[in-house]
Amino acid sequence: MNSRPAGRRRGVRAEVLRGPFDPGGQPLVTRENHLHLSLFAWNVRNGLSASKAVLSNPQRHQDFWQWPTASKLLKETERAGFDSQLQYGMWSGYGGATGWNEAQLDFATAATGSAAVTERLGIYTTIHVGYEFHPVLIGKMTASIDHISAGRLGVNIVAGSNAADYAQFGLDGPPSQEVRYAIADEFTTALKYLWTSDEPVDFEGEYFTMYGAQVNPRATSRPRPLLIAAAGSDIGLDYATRQCDALFITSQDNDVEGYAKRAKKIHDMAAEHGRRARVCAMCYVVMEQSDAEAADTVEWMKSQIDDDALQTWLVRAGHVLNSERQQLDSDQVGTSRTEEAKQDPYLGIGQKFYESLGLGMGAYRLFGSYETVANQLIDLYEAGVEQVALCFFDPLKGVQEMREHVIPLLRARGYHQNPV
Ligand SMILES: Cc1cc2nc3c(=O)[nH]c(=O)nc-3n(C[C@H](O)[C@H](O)[C@H](O)COP(=O)(O)O)c2cc1C
Repeated sequence: MNSRPAGRRRGVRAEVLRGPFDPGGQPLVTRENHLHLSLFAWNVRNGLSASKAVLSNPQRHQDFWQWPTASKLLKETERAGFDSQLQYGMWSGYGGATGWNEAQLDFATAATGSAAVTERLGIYTTIHVGYEFHPVLIGKMTASIDHISAGRLGVNIVAGSNAADYAQFGLDGPPSQEVRYAIADEFTTALKYLWTSDEPVDFEGEYFTMYGAQVNPRATSRPRPLLIAAAGSDIGLDYATRQCDALFITSQDNDVEGYAKRAKKIHDMAAEHGRRARVCAMCYVVMEQSDAEAADTVEWMKSQIDDDALQTWLVRAGHVLNSERQQLDSDQVGTSRTEEAKQDPYLGIGQKFYESLGLGMGAYRLFGSYETVANQLIDLYEAGVEQVALCFFDPLKGVQEMREHVIPLLRARGYHQNPV
């Protein structure tokens, strides 16, 4: 039972502790005839590339997150006509020969820096809710970023499941899905109060308590910053469709039909709560002048997959690693490859999954010429995907090619408009 600390300012009692909760309504979720384009994972080493092909030119393929390059990349992204940048939320990398994701710019400073070097680009950051960050701290930081960016902030809420991240915070994790999303639900409600309430708030939840809590400035965005959630499970989708505005997804059936099914499910779930949801697909892009050239690059990358980095990813994700479907536990975080996996060129997960992890961490694959990539994006949009988060093998080259070739094709065909 919580008790209000003596002598503290009393606020308005928060009547709502879990969603749906939309004070002032939802922000604009989708625009007609517009595929929202985001640059994803620019803030971590290698992005989604777990192939030793990145070692051929570390500056272009691995170290784009370093600020001299990243700040240029973000300006180019805005100039190309992208709608937003979306950050990857990460505290522990996956190692291997490529040091996959082993360096990361954080959710707050990277968002603030990117706001300062751009004028229009949406600033979508990614924040974990399981690591005991208090809503007042995050509410204060995000409202300040929204203020500095003049209302361009979006927040991707991640109920993380990476045991090594929890361990860094001294926590034994991850908790069960039920607990992870109960925390996320309460956290999101508290954040919405802080962003929007003109009165100090008293909030007595199961996981978070705040008395007389208020941030000033409150959020600049009206009615509030856009909320995204990267969830996979049904419990996660339920939270996301009740509390957030966009869902950042992958699909196990990694084809357009798989995304169409998932998009319909998400749109239907949101409608049941009287809400709207934008579906955002994580995509990995290898683009060249012709399909044949892109296929050559892809084959080269596949031949160089960083097995040790992938192995660590699989262990952390608690994946099935061998024919007995043995589930590895978190005690094995960071261990090197098992004997069994060493015998199998695909680490016991099959060629398809192995290659899709190595080239894009399971993202939807956009491989081919500019025309092919534009057509694939249109197919996704027609399948109900209203946003794509694009991660490129070579981000500076990719963004430039989007500006020169792909975005003009999308606009000519009525699938992208000038960002607002
Ligand atoms: C498209 C997508 C993006 C994700 N991005 C992140 C991320 O940036 N940081 C992170 O720790 N987890 C990330 N995750 C992992 C999820 O937050 C989640 O833990 C995982 O998908 C398991 O699903 P569940 O939480 O619904 O059980 C992402 C998941 C998806 C599907």
